[in-house]
Amino acid sequence: MDTNEIILNWYDSEKRNLPWREPDKNKIDVYKVWISEIMLQQTTVMAVIPYFKKFITRFPNINILAESDIEEVLTYWAGLGYYSRARNLHECSKQIIEKFNGVFPREEEILIKLPGIGDYTASAICAIAYNQHKVALDVNVKRVISRINNKHNLCNISIKKLAINILSEDRPGDFNEAIMDIGSKYCKSKFPKCSICPINKICKTFKYNKNALIEINKKKPIKEKIIKYGNCYLIKRKDDNKFLFIRRPSKGLLGGMLSFPSSLWVIDKKNIPTSKLFDDLITNDSIKGPIHHTFSHFNLILNVYNIKIIDRIDIEGEWIDLNKAKGQLPSLMKKVANLV
Ligand code: ADE
Repeated sequence: MDTNEIILNWYDSEKRNLPWREPDKNKIDVYKVWISEIMLQQTTVMAVIPYFKKFITRFPNINILAESDIEEVLTYWAGLGYYSRARNLHECSKQIIEKFNGVFPREEEILIKLPGIGDYTASAICAIAYNQHKVALDVNVKRVISRINNKHNLCNISIKKLAINILSEDRPGDFNEAIMDIGSKYCKSKFPKCSICPINKICKTFKYNKNALIEINKKKPIKEKIIKYGNCYLIKRKDDNKFLFIRRPSKGLLGGMLSFPSSLWVIDKKNIPTSKLFDDLITNDSIKGPIHHTFSHFNLILNVYNIKIIDRIDIEGEWIDLNKAKGQLPSLMKKVANLV
């Protein structure tokens, strides 16, 4: 058996049953492949599954997605993080309707020019949805291909060439997904499960260079993240118990998401920007929290203040019932809401 036969045989019997995988190759829906690949950028398969199912139920095709409001699309993304993905996805759906009459392009060069679609996603769509001879090279696939070949520290172009060499001629989509599954289940970055890996017989690192796998298990020093500080305000209106929310600016962190009003987040904890309006309303028993939250590039410590407003005041924002808002909040703001 050659390499790709071993890999595909394993995939046929052991592949993960994932909601975006269509067993009948004639029924593959590029829309679902695209949505899943965008969700899977920077997010684990287990985290994506429930989001994918709900998203597809509400937005089952590109027309419905393009016609929907971005605020609603973001509601379905709340908690998944990296919200620019949802904004790009929505913008991309509109461009596909306008420029391509709603028909998803099949050419990698065209796909790459669409919002939110980079090299990796374009290759994944072409391979999985259209069975084109492409390799979607993410960190997991790179690791598996490097180890099979016992060639470590290669650049992406060289790894891609090695992958293309063993890529299945007639089932490139399945081949890509098989490598993804092997990377996630056996060929893990730390503590790979080589002794039970279905491709250990063809893995040159396993055969000739086991030390390379042991090296990886040695702990690397953890890089300290910077800490930022901010204030956040839970402002409740007394007459109907609704809370004040704002929409964050569409560019930047948590872009476009519903949020409690908050100061800017800064490194100097003694100089958190103050809000004249809210800080005047704070009393000693307003203090809640603080909340700790981790973003990819920094940790955040948010002082939370609970403020009751007796008179109706004119503040910019939306007054929303807390339970209604909860489902639309990003994870950080859910933590804040849970302090109520
Ligand atoms: N990660 C990225 N794309 C994936 C896919 N199609 N299946 C499993 N894991 C993935």
